[in-house]
Formats: sequence, structure tokens, C-alpha cells
Amino acid sequence: MTEWSASSWRQFPIQQQPEYADLAQLKSIESQLKTFPPLVFAEEIRRLEQHLGEVCHGKGFLLQGGDCAESFSDFTAPKIRDTFKVILQMAIVLTFAGSCPVTKVARMAGQYAKPRSSGMETVNGVTLPSYRGDIINGAAFTPEARVPDPQRMLTAYHHSAASLNLLRAFAQGGFADLHKVHKWNMSFIAANPLKEKYQELAGKIEDALHFMEVLGITAETHPTIHETELFTSHEALLLPYEEALTRTDSLTGMPYNCSAHMVWMGERTRQLDHAHMEFFRGINNPVGVKIGPNTQPDDVIALIDALNPKNKAGRLTFITRMGADNLAERLPKLIRRVQEEGRNVVWSSDPMHGNTVKTDNGFKTRDFSSIVRELEQFFAIHQAEGSYAGGIHLEMTGEDVTECTGGAYAISESDLEQRYKTQCDPRLNADQVLELAFLVSDSLAKARQGKTNA
Ligand code: PEP
Ligand code: CO
Repeated sequence: MTEWSASSWRQFPIQQQPEYADLAQLKSIESQLKTFPPLVFAEEIRRLEQHLGEVCHGKGFLLQGGDCAESFSDFTAPKIRDTFKVILQMAIVLTFAGSCPVTKVARMAGQYAKPRSSGMETVNGVTLPSYRGDIINGAAFTPEARVPDPQRMLTAYHHSAASLNLLRAFAQGGFADLHKVHKWNMSFIAANPLKEKYQELAGKIEDALHFMEVLGITAETHPTIHETELFTSHEALLLPYEEALTRTDSLTGMPYNCSAHMVWMGERTRQLDHAHMEFFRGINNPVGVKIGPNTQPDDVIALIDALNPKNKAGRLTFITRMGADNLAERLPKLIRRVQEEGRNVVWSSDPMHGNTVKTDNGFKTRDFSSIVRELEQFFAIHQAEGSYAGGIHLEMTGEDVTECTGGAYAISESDLEQRYKTQCDPRLNADQVLELAFLVSDSLAKARQGKTNA
């Protein structure tokens, strides 16, 4: 194996990258980015790895979620706040059910690059390069918008910095105070029958807080009541950008990708002998790998050998996305092999990407029942194998969108056009997330029972 550096990926074949016309401009932008401050710090990254180590041992749960693709144009404080609220709300339901800490990792503050199944897109007989995420080109279906522009990397950096700044303020400035648990509800959720169930849970938390106060345990003595920790993540797809933000930590001398706390490799770019694998093997962040339905037991072992040769708990998360119809047949053999070899991985479920369908009226959607079915099977399979279902990975938003069909409001295919706003894949809306939180919380409680009795 050759020596690793932040740029050693350049010697390997690479998938899913744009072709920039002006290479001198690209180089100058990379040089600028290399001088910019890191977005996150190595010490925070190590904390996340510690949390994930606990998850790996069945002592916590990972909740990862956010947009499929963030966009430069839809970039407002209410949007960031509402997605954060939905993450908080789901996390509190899961914390309560599982009686375990929930590690919150947002698909935010950097989720700007998208892998595509085809390099070109044809609409009404016109063919243009595909949209690859705002960090690369524009979503509008015009020849100008679709030209890859390296300047967009600078915009992505600044948008990520501003999002992260607001998220940190929300997490630590009192918004996430447990006393405000009632207020994390979205106003439009008012009509949701689950609202009452949530208010009941919020009431129990308030009673517990009151009881603790009597004992002298308050936000002043215990800051965890007043604030929360939120980590960031994205698919590290556009390697010139990821390289430019990779820095050597002055405390440990180790390289960290400081564009986010956690980064993951997509299903389409995780070839063992390709550039993304080379880049990922050398950074010290916790990393995720998407695991699709065709993955074989030998493949998962090869991925572990490449990415986690020291078998560190918390370093590697497998995010399975096999589809509700495939999971029962394909996941157990992977779990068994990992167990036989005594490898430490966090198993997380992405119930979104294996359940995407196209409707007759032309929308990409996912049905709520398929999402639930994949998640329920994920928990049941791990339970049956004596393994631990450690997390979930969702595409979701705090907005009141109509992108996934089904759920308590029975969004139909003909409803989709009402508020279909996603830049890329269909997301769960706040109502659907809350509903999912309650459904998953029962499975999590069972999974955790196995652990607390052990
Ligand atoms: C995604 O998470 O948005 C994505 C593209 O996933 P996958 O690589 O699993 O298809
Ligand atoms: Co997606």
C-alpha cells in the first residue's frame, strides 16, 4: 500500500466527479480553501467517535438525518431551525423509549454533493449534464446552470459555516433546553393525533425535571439539561473540497477531515481500489459506508479491513439500504459474518434509498409503509441474530412537504405535487418523522431490553 496523504486519492480511478473546464481556477480555489479555518475541530470528532463506540457496544443509539441535498437558495434560519427541531423531537422520543443516550448527527452544514445514477438527464427531448448538488452545479434545467463551477465550493464552505454557527447556537444557547420540550412541536402538527402522545411524553419529562430540581439537580448544576450536542455529516463525494478541509490535528498529529464530524461513502463510490476508499482510509473521523442489496459477506469484511483495520469501536458505521423487500434475505448473512469475525461496526438503517419508486405522474417518492417495513425488519433481524440495531439514517425535513406518500395523513400520489420541494430525493415531513419516532421507539425499547438484561 502506498503512503497516505490527503491528496493520495488523486492516483486512483474515481467515480462521480465533475469535469471542470478551467483547471487553473479549480486549483486557485482549492488553495484558498486550504487556508480557510476548519469547520469542526478534531476534539469534537473524537467525541463523536467515542459516542459511536458506545453505540457499537449497545449503550446508545445513532440518529442521523436531514436533507437528501441541501441547497444554496433554500437557506434560511427557519429552515435550519425546523430540521433541528425535528431531530430533537425524534431524539427525545427515542431517548425516552430506549432509556439510552441518542447521538444526533445531522445531514446538514455540508450535504451539497450528490452521486447520480446517470451523468446526463433528458427532459422533453433535451439532454443536459445531471445536477450533482449545489457544490458542483445548479439544479435548474438549463445548459448554463448545469456547468460545473468550482466557485461553488467557496459558497458551500460559507453556507456550511453559517449553518453550523446557527446549529451550535441552537444546541448550546438554550433552544434545546429540556424545559422547552413542549415547544419543539411544529405548529402545523397541531392536528396530528400523535401530538397528544408527544405532549404526554413531554409532560413526563417535565415531571422528572421538577423532581430533579427538588433534589437540587438543575440546569445550573447540570448543563446537559440546558444544552445538547449535535454533530454534522455529509457524503464526502467531491474530493478536491474534502482534501482542502483535511487538516493535521496539532494535538495528535493525525489527519482529520474538518469539513464535518462524520462523513460517509455512497453506494456508488465505495470500490476498494478507487479514490474515495483511499481518501477515507487515512482520515481519522468516524466514517459511514452505505451497504446496498448486492453486498456480500466477503465485501463487508474487505470494507472493514480497508477502513477499520484496528477494529476500533465507533470508527465504522455500516448504513444498510437494501429495500424492504430484500432486507430479510440479504442482511442476516452479513451480520453473521461480521459477528463470526468479531468485528466492531455500528449497524444503522437507511430505510429511504432502497425504497424509492417513480409514480405515474412522474414524482420520485417513497411510501411510508415501505420505510416502516424496512426499519421494523432491521430491528427484528438484529434481534434474531443477537446483534444490535444501532441507528437510523433518514432523509427528512422540518418543512411541511408532500414528498413521501402515506403516513397518518395518507398522502396520496396525487397529493405529491402540492408541496414537492426537494432538490433531490423525497424526504419525510415533520409529521411522518414523529410518527416514525413512535413506531421505532417500540422496536428500540425491545432491542435495548436485550442489552440491559445482559
Ligand atoms: C444519499 O444518502 O443521498 C445517497 C445517495 O445514498 P446511496 O449512496 O445509499 O444511494
Ligand atoms: Co438521497
